[in-house]
Amino acid sequence: MSMVDTINKKRLGKVLSREELEEAFNGYFQGNIPDYQMSSLLMAICLRGMTDQETLDLTDIFIRSGEVLDLSEVDGITVDKHSTGGVGDKTTLIVASIVASLGLKVPKMSGRGLGHTGGTIDKLESIPGFRVNLSREEFIHQLNTIGVAIISQTAHLAPLDKKVYALRDVTGTVESIPLIASSIMSKKIASGADKIVLDVKVGKGALLKTQEEAIEISRLMKKIGHHYQKDVDTMITYMDIPLGTSIGNALEILEVMRILSNEENNYLVALSKALAAKMVQLGLGISIQDASIRVEDSLKSGKAYKKFMELIEAQGGDISGLRVSSHTQDILSTKSGHVIDMDAYRFGKLSLDLGGGRKTKEDPIDPKVGIVLKKKIGDDVKVGDVLCTLYLREDAPFIQEDLTSYYTFQEEVEPPKSVDDSVEIV
Ligand code: URA
Repeated sequence: MSMVDTINKKRLGKVLSREELEEAFNGYFQGNIPDYQMSSLLMAICLRGMTDQETLDLTDIFIRSGEVLDLSEVDGITVDKHSTGGVGDKTTLIVASIVASLGLKVPKMSGRGLGHTGGTIDKLESIPGFRVNLSREEFIHQLNTIGVAIISQTAHLAPLDKKVYALRDVTGTVESIPLIASSIMSKKIASGADKIVLDVKVGKGALLKTQEEAIEISRLMKKIGHHYQKDVDTMITYMDIPLGTSIGNALEILEVMRILSNEENNYLVALSKALAAKMVQLGLGISIQDASIRVEDSLKSGKAYKKFMELIEAQGGDISGLRVSSHTQDILSTKSGHVIDMDAYRFGKLSLDLGGGRKTKEDPIDPKVGIVLKKKIGDDVKVGDVLCTLYLREDAPFIQEDLTSYYTFQEEVEPPKSVDDSVEIV
């Protein structure tokens, strides 16, 4: 079947066979199908969806485009974690440090930013010298010595997903349940861990906007995992407001360090502890209560912080060289009231526009830019208060937009007038 026939078939909502999917996706991988035709097929999939069988087939095609990492030389139980993507989501760095400090092995293959959401690899690359590409031998050696390694999706593992992922990012074809499920699960299966915890994010700042979508993708990813005999668990977590207080690559590394030093206490910390506990429960086969106690202990004792520093050093990073932009702009509120909501999506887009993410596949990113949130849900704000501080590119002009509209306020209610005041004098 020609690619045009395959596109038309999906456009009409029909089911593609394994052979048709192979022809299209393997053809794209080999360079025989151009970007514009693959974009069109991806858009048809976004609009028409895929059956479970098509999603399983596509996952398998992604996996078979590269090698499956053999982790049998790693001593101990391997536990992986993945998030479906959010704004300010630095949980991987926190969670991997905690879990590895408790004796489990965390082989982590992470992605770059996608759409308005950030990526762990871009965050790590803000640390000068940090190597996100390790050879297989280095990866295994590091897991056996310090228990954790975080690498970029290598050219060897699910390389077809990598190519498709980059195209989706710039063609409006990110937000599709079967495409997200097959993309994530192909990488998880190819990276070879025994056990996998999936953080399924839902809300305004997430790729999935409704609880129904989150439940559906959890079901689908568990089904794919079980097909490959993997122990998979999922947690559906909220992503309506940015996670934590920083958005932007270097700024988020600094925030991770503060959290691992027990200097912060917010929803991001609670979420990271819950995810880490789930990984420890799954990995060690203990109760969630016992797992939670171990997680607390790792943080309180500084073991998790130490593990994060070991990870950076092992991968060549020099944390003393981490820099954020010195060109900053305080955004002042033009309203007063009680903050009841924040638009995570717009904050994610703003960080991308400041230079923290990519608009085309080739765009370089600026690790030093981003946003530090000074006011969050629950805070009272007066006109003129600093809502957030922007870290701009060194040569960028100040932002003129009134960012107050990114916040929803419960406006200050005028105190009721006295009865006498309300009497109308004719
Ligand atoms: N994360 C991935 O790895 N793939 C997606 O498609 C979305 C989020």
